[in-house]
Amino acid sequence: MELTVDTRPAPKIAIEALVTYAFENEKPDTGVLAQLDQAAGGALSKLAAAGELTGKMLETTLLYYPQGLAAQRLLIIGAGKKEKLGTAELRRLAAAAVRSLKSRQVRQVAFLVREGERSESAAQAVVEGMILANFDYDKYKTDKKPGGEITFASLAGWDESSRAEADRGLARGRIVAESQNFARDLGNEPSNLLTPRMLADRAAAMAREAGLSVDVLDEKRIAELKMGALLSVAQGSAEPPRMIVITYTPENLNPNAPVLGLVGKAITFDTGGISIKPSNDMEKMKYDMCGGAAVIGAMRAIAALKPSCKITAVVPSSENMPGGRAQKPGDIQIAMSGKSIEVINTDAEGRLVLADAITYAKKLGCTHLVDAATLTGAVVVALANVNVGVFGSDQTFTDQLLASSKAAGEKMWPLPIDDDYREMIKSGIADIQNVGSGKGGGAITGAMFIKEFTGDTPWIHLDIAGLAWQDDVKPWNAKGATGVAVRTMVDLAMKFGK
Ligand code: BES
Ligand code: ZN
Ligand code: ZN
Repeated sequence: MELTVDTRPAPKIAIEALVTYAFENEKPDTGVLAQLDQAAGGALSKLAAAGELTGKMLETTLLYYPQGLAAQRLLIIGAGKKEKLGTAELRRLAAAAVRSLKSRQVRQVAFLVREGERSESAAQAVVEGMILANFDYDKYKTDKKPGGEITFASLAGWDESSRAEADRGLARGRIVAESQNFARDLGNEPSNLLTPRMLADRAAAMAREAGLSVDVLDEKRIAELKMGALLSVAQGSAEPPRMIVITYTPENLNPNAPVLGLVGKAITFDTGGISIKPSNDMEKMKYDMCGGAAVIGAMRAIAALKPSCKITAVVPSSENMPGGRAQKPGDIQIAMSGKSIEVINTDAEGRLVLADAITYAKKLGCTHLVDAATLTGAVVVALANVNVGVFGSDQTFTDQLLASSKAAGEKMWPLPIDDDYREMIKSGIADIQNVGSGKGGGAITGAMFIKEFTGDTPWIHLDIAGLAWQDDVKPWNAKGATGVAVRTMVDLAMKFGK
């Protein structure tokens, strides 16, 4: 999608579709709406009077060849209550506009941001919304219509004096959203076409293109490093595991500066192993690598945005299969850290691969850690498909992450991990066990298990199981992998160490 800033006055914008938005019960008598209404001979006032322009959230009103306007169509999206409009809402409005126009075969769109709302972050959000909405996963359809996408989008509302601001927001929004789409593409990929080795190849190709350094550990090096937890998950599969390491190093790096580690669970398919999952919905477990995909996507954006801190990504990747050599419930495994683990349930494999990834990230010098993982069904019970579960061992660091999640428009909510929960992962015969005893708290005991491997390093765990996949299309988004956590991690990286 070609993107540009268009500083022409709204009525003069010649384009297939000009889009703007109206607030609840707003009369078109101020700012941009008044300007458009006057140019179009009162067309908007008439619509409002007829009750067809109410401003209700995501209401769409489409005018064809409006007289007095250079645009071929004017689309007005309902924006709800004015006082509730922030960048998250703007992103969604722009996205909904793109999806509704895309389905009408429109190819060029100009999104007009309203008076009083033009900032760099608004420009970024609108561009993100448009690029994310333009994404559809149809690469394996052989009968797709050619060119079914928006090919040109412009950002309007800014004038020449404020254009630099819009340009900056546009540039950043493009990088972030394209990187999120990169992660979505990986998340949608079926497991036969995205094994751990193929994921590593895709990550390495991205890293080379982006100018990042990359090191893919194969099964031999994984064994040499005694990553027993990762190997225990992989041993039931014919496909070998990979540990993918991608590093971004800023120019003029201060060797004493903190290093951010991003760790992402990448189980390319989770059958549950010997503790096998029911067949219903099992096909979805191809998305059990979305934490890893989000980390790889975030690194793609980080390479282009060049934050001032060093960032190391560690992505443990494996299948979880019930093959003849698969680990069995009750087995004891020794993690890279030396801790012994009793594997009560082979379906709690995410925490096992993360254990070794975290140990390795610390060995590589990370001083702060964020992991993203589709870790538990229990987090969906706690927070539904609305908020990502956040578990943090350091309040200051956690507050930074929550601020980034707000700025990025990705909903996240903190859950507890105090020491009382540690009792629940004690094992009778090993140091710890991989599932919680007692009732409930499944998302928390999952987090507690990972925490065992973090030591004193400030660490945050994001359980994205409820948000990594969207079952149905939304007016603003295709169904499938969402790329959740990419934007938050990128925002955090840009502010980290400052
Ligand atoms: N990958 C699953 C978690 C999951 C469930 C992600 C649903 C997305 C949607 C994970 O490996 C798993 O199976 N967790 C178990 C843990 C349990 C055995 C302690 C779960 O949540 O049931
Ligand atoms: Zn599992
Ligand atoms: Zn899993």
